[in-house]
Amino acid sequence: LEEREAVQPVEWSSAEALGNVPGGLIAHPDQKHVIYPLGSTVIIQSLTTQKQEFLQGHSNNVSCITVNRSGQYLASGQVTHMGFKADILIWDYANREEYARLVLHKAKVEALAFSPNGTYLVSLGGQDDGSVVLWNVAKREAICGSPASTHSSGISLTVKFPNLRDDIFITAGNCTLRVWELDLRNRKIWPIECQLGQLKRIVQYVLTTGVEDDDSFFYGGTSSGDVLKVNLKTKLLNSCAPAKEKFSQGVTSLKLLKTGDILVGSGDGAVSLCKTANFKVIKQVHVEGGVTSISLRGQGHQFFTGTQSSLIFRFNFTEFKDELFTSCHCDAVNDIAFPFGTAELFATCSKNDIRVWHTETNKVLLRITVPNMTCNAIQFMHDGKSIVSAWNDGKIRAFTPESGKLLYILNNAHSMGVSAIAVTSDCKWVISGGGEGQVRVWEVTPRSQRLLESMKEHKSLVSCIKVKSNNRECVTTSSDGTCIIWDLVRFVRNQMVLANTMFKCVNYHPEEFQIITSGSDRKIGYWEVFDGAAIRELEGSLSGSINGMDIAQDGRHFVTGGDEKLLKVWGYNEGEITHIGVGHSGNITGLKICPNSHWIISISADGAILRWKFPHH
Ligand SMILES: *[C@@H]1O[C@H](CO)[C@@H](O)[C@H](O)[C@H]1NC(C)=O
Ligand SMILES: *[C@@H]1O[C@H](CO)[C@@H](O)[C@H](O)[C@H]1NC(C)=O
Ligand SMILES: *[C@@H]1O[C@H](CO)[C@@H](O)[C@H](O)[C@H]1NC(C)=O
Ligand SMILES: *[C@@H]1O[C@H](CO)[C@@H](O)[C@H](O)[C@H]1NC(C)=O
Ligand SMILES: *[C@@H]1O[C@H](CO)[C@@H](O)[C@H](O)[C@H]1NC(C)=O
Ligand SMILES: *[C@@H]1O[C@H](CO)[C@@H](O)[C@H](O)[C@H]1NC(C)=O
Ligand SMILES: *[C@@H]1O[C@H](CO)[C@@H](O)[C@H](O)[C@H]1NC(C)=O
Repeated sequence: LEEREAVQPVEWSSAEALGNVPGGLIAHPDQKHVIYPLGSTVIIQSLTTQKQEFLQGHSNNVSCITVNRSGQYLASGQVTHMGFKADILIWDYANREEYARLVLHKAKVEALAFSPNGTYLVSLGGQDDGSVVLWNVAKREAICGSPASTHSSGISLTVKFPNLRDDIFITAGNCTLRVWELDLRNRKIWPIECQLGQLKRIVQYVLTTGVEDDDSFFYGGTSSGDVLKVNLKTKLLNSCAPAKEKFSQGVTSLKLLKTGDILVGSGDGAVSLCKTANFKVIKQVHVEGGVTSISLRGQGHQFFTGTQSSLIFRFNFTEFKDELFTSCHCDAVNDIAFPFGTAELFATCSKNDIRVWHTETNKVLLRITVPNMTCNAIQFMHDGKSIVSAWNDGKIRAFTPESGKLLYILNNAHSMGVSAIAVTSDCKWVISGGGEGQVRVWEVTPRSQRLLESMKEHKSLVSCIKVKSNNRECVTTSSDGTCIIWDLVRFVRNQMVLANTMFKCVNYHPEEFQIITSGSDRKIGYWEVFDGAAIRELEGSLSGSINGMDIAQDGRHFVTGGDEKLLKVWGYNEGEITHIGVGHSGNITGLKICPNSHWIISISADGAILRWKFPHH
């Protein structure tokens, strides 16, 4: 590709990767931000405004992050493909800039830790790498390295420094627990095995040392649901607790508190405040999804919990109640819709729910849940009084956009799930498409709904429906390679376009003489509405299907996105790309130019929603 101007993502809302990154949620020492990874990006999010900033530099998913004690430096490690090097990036937090790129580990960086005074960074490679490396932060270079564990034990999973000493650190993993001493003169690190007796444990993600003035013991949470307490000086096991009532699905986070209590997060979603001596539970709350991280805010009357289902909860110790801090889709986002004529808010849909977002702040205004069902498509009625939605259980559900109250359900709307939906501008009709290939027209009012017509021409899934502004015609695409223009007065086919593709999307040009289509063949087709004649064909992407497309109101530009993960802005007449947006880590599933043309919102299969400045505003 030639070099073109890049569109930068402005803000996005999601945290899909959080679920896969143990300890991936960090409350920054400035007490004003939380930090977490999303795909290959590290996000810094304000606690007050929820505004997000992005650190981009990794070529693949971020696998671990950490900050130094003052918070001036942030370090992140990534995964990559077998046989390639996985980079560590150190970021200058104040300037949000890359400070150093450290390249040594193969395939994956498993864990990272700064020493207490910030002089050193220790990194642990993944299974295919198996080494531990000590870095000099100021010189941005490696000091020395070593295999992390012996051949007889399993892999190491985590690394930590004590609170006060920069000359020793601890690694732990599958049947391995070691304290390392730095021998700087000889540029060596020496391991000392901790003696656990007969105990076989996997310390999965968590290690913590005593509160600041006490480094005498350190603690490791295990996949068996208990916590090892080890004497740092003698390297002897002090205790393994609790003996009975273990934490279900493993201990995934631990935080020692100044009060002498300990916070334990576990795989079943429990957040427990316990007595350190015997792990007797004082308070406990269950959150949605397994806990992956707990991070204290400053000296701690508050803490944050990240979960496998990509939710972040804020707790305050007095109340010990969870409050949702950010919410995001953790499954693929399937569709996005703006209300007619306003860019202020938009709705997205996914497995289990529909969410209504405030565009400028990324805040969720409303979450409408339908457990265990997947919403494939959504539309706002033009009067703004309802959101109509297409579900995989074959039903069409309509909700109010303010309260999320269910207005009506059309049962058995389609036999193989409802796959596409559209509305007429007079708010009288809903047009739906199904997995079986039918296009159906429904007459709806809040009080009554009835099927007007079924149109059977497509042979398989209807992927997209667009209605002409006079409500007398609509166009539908199908994965069977047909795109049909329908007469909505007589309910007959006007034109059919055929191509060797699974069509995914179609748009009327605002003048409504032409339509553009795209799909799995990566081609963008321009067609005459009047006779279905092909006008033009563009090569839309280098790899992978195009899944979403939208045309600007002035008809001069359009935007596409798909499995290539790139957002592309095109000149309609020129047929050339004007801008490319890089930011999605998953396949783009759809996009919309917002009604005031300020933004493009794009959605992806990894649960992300990205907001971009529309470059031709
Ligand atoms: C990166 O993360 C995405 C989303 O979690 C996942 O689907 C993908 O497999 C990951 N890639 C690698 C190389 O681990
Ligand atoms: C954190 O890193 C910065 C930059 O190297 C350094 O100036 C600062 O002293 C470090 N602070 C701590 C407490 O680690
Ligand atoms: C732990 O290591 C042992 C021996 O190396 C291995 O057999 C076992 O599968 C590992 N367990 C896990 C959960 O990785
Ligand atoms: C940090 O600790 C190391 C090891 O104890 C020591 O050599 C170094 O001088 C310390 N650096 C600072 C800035 O205190
Ligand atoms: C904790 O929550 C209670 C009740 O919501 C509130 O009154 C209190 O101010 C909160 N404390 C802190 C430190 O935020
Ligand atoms: C959703 O599915 C889960 C697992 O199959 C099941 O336990 C749960 O009861 C279901 N919930 C509803 C509301 O159907
Ligand atoms: C993303 O696109 C690639 C290439 O088309 C495809 O193989 C993969 O299955 C898609 N992933 C998802 C989650 O849809």
